[in-house]
Amino acid sequence: MNKPAPIAVVLAAGKGTRMKSCRTKVLFPVLGVPIVARVVAAARAAGCTDVVVVIGHEAQAVRDTLGPDLPYAVQTGMPGTGGAVVAARGAVDARGRTVLVLPGDVPLMRAQTLSALLAAHEAQGAAVTVATMKVQDPTGYGRVVRDGPEGGVLRIVEHRDADPSELRIDEVNTSIYAFDGDFLFGDSAAVDRLSPDNAQKEYLLTDVVGFAVADGRSVAGFVIDDELETAGINDRQQLSELERTQRSRVNTGWMRQGVSMDDSATTWIEEAVTLGRDVVLGAGVELRGATSVGEGATVGKGSVLVDCAVGAGVEIGPYVVATRASFEPGSQVRPFTVLNGLNEKKPAASTDADRVQIGAGAQVGPFTHLRQASVLGSEAKAGNFVELKKTELHAGAKANHLAYLGDATVGPRSNIGAGVITCNYDGFSKQRTTIGADVFVGTDSHLIAPVRLGDGAYVATGTTVSRDVPADALAIGRARQENKLGYASRLKSALQAKAQKIKG
Ligand code: UD1
Ligand code: MG
Repeated sequence: MNKPAPIAVVLAAGKGTRMKSCRTKVLFPVLGVPIVARVVAAARAAGCTDVVVVIGHEAQAVRDTLGPDLPYAVQTGMPGTGGAVVAARGAVDARGRTVLVLPGDVPLMRAQTLSALLAAHEAQGAAVTVATMKVQDPTGYGRVVRDGPEGGVLRIVEHRDADPSELRIDEVNTSIYAFDGDFLFGDSAAVDRLSPDNAQKEYLLTDVVGFAVADGRSVAGFVIDDELETAGINDRQQLSELERTQRSRVNTGWMRQGVSMDDSATTWIEEAVTLGRDVVLGAGVELRGATSVGEGATVGKGSVLVDCAVGAGVEIGPYVVATRASFEPGSQVRPFTVLNGLNEKKPAASTDADRVQIGAGAQVGPFTHLRQASVLGSEAKAGNFVELKKTELHAGAKANHLAYLGDATVGPRSNIGAGVITCNYDGFSKQRTTIGADVFVGTDSHLIAPVRLGDGAYVATGTTVSRDVPADALAIGRARQENKLGYASRLKSALQAKAQKIKG
């Protein structure tokens, strides 16, 4: 009979004192994704059908980040990693199941490694299998004490409790464990024997290893070779270093698949991003969230794209900011968060309908701001100092300079002059502007929404359009100009005399 699927317990209740932050440690992002969300996703991907998250410090913020669908256990009273596991006890029935305990502060553990740990644990029938690693500098980590050089694991000693010979041990505890659920939580449960009799005055999960040995049960060690996978984040320097290493790995992976980077040390590509061959990325480019860039497209220096779909061959000039998210003061939007594999449903913030899409052959930038659900059709152009919000520029439409188009549709081949503004907001609600095909909107025109401009219409420069313009009509609405001959020098003398009198 197959063993039932494993349970994961993610320890995320600690404060993370060493981060020196009012935000809890496990919510800090690594390449855009909160640390604890990565751990939960890895547990899921390794086949854990129940993932219990132990919360305490900033509990509500952790819940908000991970969503309401997970079982949560609240740690109260018993401080320490052992206390956190005790809190998870009643959340799921662990009888006959393996319990994978994962620290909430180890962001880059891979699902494959967790699966291998679970397989090794179940094959050996151990009471506990501790994942360990060898490190050059073991400072701060719990040391793994073995029964001789090749021997089994006897116990784990925390740095603060270790004697000088134990401090020299370079094999350390990763805080990733597989437990026999009956041993951990059953009738004569290991967790019931924990006591805070140590330098930290906390209930240390590491003590459970010693209990298993005392009971004559086997304790296995499972060495993980990749230090990046097991690195725990305790302070901001570790966070920054780990993120840099991971970023460099991601970039190297893409370069191997045919992507060029002008300066890969400054390129930021989050793991959910997809890139085609012959994509060229300028220095300092940031591709965040669920962004995809098609074959042969170029993203210019300093551009930041969040949740964008960029078609093949698109040219994005330097310093283009394209994001689906708008940040109102006090809002709780976390636009750079992608919880891949966490829930079956996608997070609300990254639905396809909200993404910025840039079609094949379109040209964008420099200095263009594309927001929420904007679409550029093929060969469309959005130039410098143009802002689009929820606006579609259909095939071949152009807004080359200095325009704001919000809640608008611009039909094929239409031209939007410099300084054109859609007046889409009346202080209470947003209204749409609909522009047909082959429309010409002259420079410095204002389009007061809701308003429709029919196919082929022509709006004269400087017109304030407040009524619909029928197809093929000319709309002109500006004060008639008068030229007063010889008047300029008289005006200048009068103004000069007035200025002298004021100074005088
Ligand atoms: C822990 C291990 C240490 C190991 C190291 C690896 C213990 C006692 N020590 O030390 O052997 O080498 O990880 O990174 O387990 N947490 C709670 N509730 C608490 C305390 C912590 O949920 O009361 C959570 C934290 O949010 C964190 C995780 O447990 O995600 C680990 O806690 P942390 O304080 O970072 O332990 P380390 O000192 O790193
Ligand atoms: Mg830690």
